[in-house]
Amino acid sequence: MDLLVVGSGFFGLTVAERAAASGRKVTVIDRRDHIGGNAYSEHEPQTGIEVHRYGAHLFHTSNPAVWEYANRFTTFTNYVHRVFTTHDGVVFPMPINLGTINQFFGAAYSPAEARALVHRLAGEFDERSAQNLEEKAIALIGRPLYEAFIRNYTAKQWQTDPRKLPADVISRLPVRYTYDSRYFDDTWEGLPADGYTAWLERMVDHPNIDVRLRTDFFDETQPLHRRATLGRLPIVYTGPIDRYFDFAEGVLSWRTLDFEQEVHDVADFQGTSVMNYADAEAPFTRIHEFKHFHPERADRYPRDRTVIMREYSRFASRDDEPYYPVNTPSDRAGLLAYRELARGEDGVFFGGRLGTYQYLDMHMAIGSALSMWNNRLT
Ligand code: FDA
Repeated sequence: MDLLVVGSGFFGLTVAERAAASGRKVTVIDRRDHIGGNAYSEHEPQTGIEVHRYGAHLFHTSNPAVWEYANRFTTFTNYVHRVFTTHDGVVFPMPINLGTINQFFGAAYSPAEARALVHRLAGEFDERSAQNLEEKAIALIGRPLYEAFIRNYTAKQWQTDPRKLPADVISRLPVRYTYDSRYFDDTWEGLPADGYTAWLERMVDHPNIDVRLRTDFFDETQPLHRRATLGRLPIVYTGPIDRYFDFAEGVLSWRTLDFEQEVHDVADFQGTSVMNYADAEAPFTRIHEFKHFHPERADRYPRDRTVIMREYSRFASRDDEPYYPVNTPSDRAGLLAYRELARGEDGVFFGGRLGTYQYLDMHMAIGSALSMWNNRLT
């Protein structure tokens, strides 16, 4: 074996695939019982509908190298992501755009009029001196839009009153002064035509790649554990960086999600793939309805049944799946200390969202894995 990759998410698999293609023998271990990390999807057994087990995954990128690389393993549908939100019994398009503003204020503002209105409402606070998330959000979009669309949604995401959250949790709140309600504005966007798992399986389908599931790097009863491999061969580590160093510099904090999946005997539950719930009364943040991700599969999916998933958000404890870095000042200090430790760890390459404590979209995980391969591992 020439290389050990810990974690089979997009970061680990991209490095493994590149290494195998260049003739190296690679072993990939993952503690889960499937490859793919959080991008993994599976067919819900009663309906055959593809479900993203760890939350909705939409592929989008403006990076030509990543787009070309992804297309070696899958074709993409022409799915374009749009999100709606329910507030006070009315459905609005998101992110906030001219359609949202005009519907909310019952008006027909031109782009310039809407911009002037938001600018005037935002004058209540100064962005630079905002003391908390609420003040910062009001300084960005004004109180009425904040209270309708951001306040309770944010409180549910963080399980914390936005007046108690630091201002730097948000850097910007996008407002579009057109009717363009596309969620992403990248050059390329779509969903893998045969699903995520088929794409991920094609990446490891190489005689030089050996995949071992249910294998934890820190479990000393399995042969490829940390002490047995460190210093013997290069290791690409994509698990949590604080866990690698036995939490010596403290535990980095994450938010996690809980999912509640249901099969309903209706053709269509909500008419769209993602509906946010902006108000406090609904305890969940959003509902996903998976059949809407693949309208081109209408003849294969059941006409009278559908799968939905409610999403709830909360702070993660050490046993929960880490999903989004919280990034408090003490997390940032801890991360700097861990980066220093990582620099001293000869032969170990830390990557991916857990290994670098950063939220990475799939295209970013693939892009940074390609550059690690090109610049540090070849
Ligand atoms: P990832 O977390 O996927 O993989 C890490 C792997 O390491 C896991 O399989 C884990 O089991 C394994 N591991 C950890 N510790 C280990 C140990 N000790 N031993 C062995 N294995 C270990 N992106 C996007 O582009 N569009 C989207 O819509 C979304 N949506 C989205 C929703 C949610 C809820 C989340 C959390 C994330 C997204 N993403 C996304 C981001 C996407 O999931 C992300 O880019 C990839 O997961 C990053 O891949 P990684 O390989 O870095 O990590």
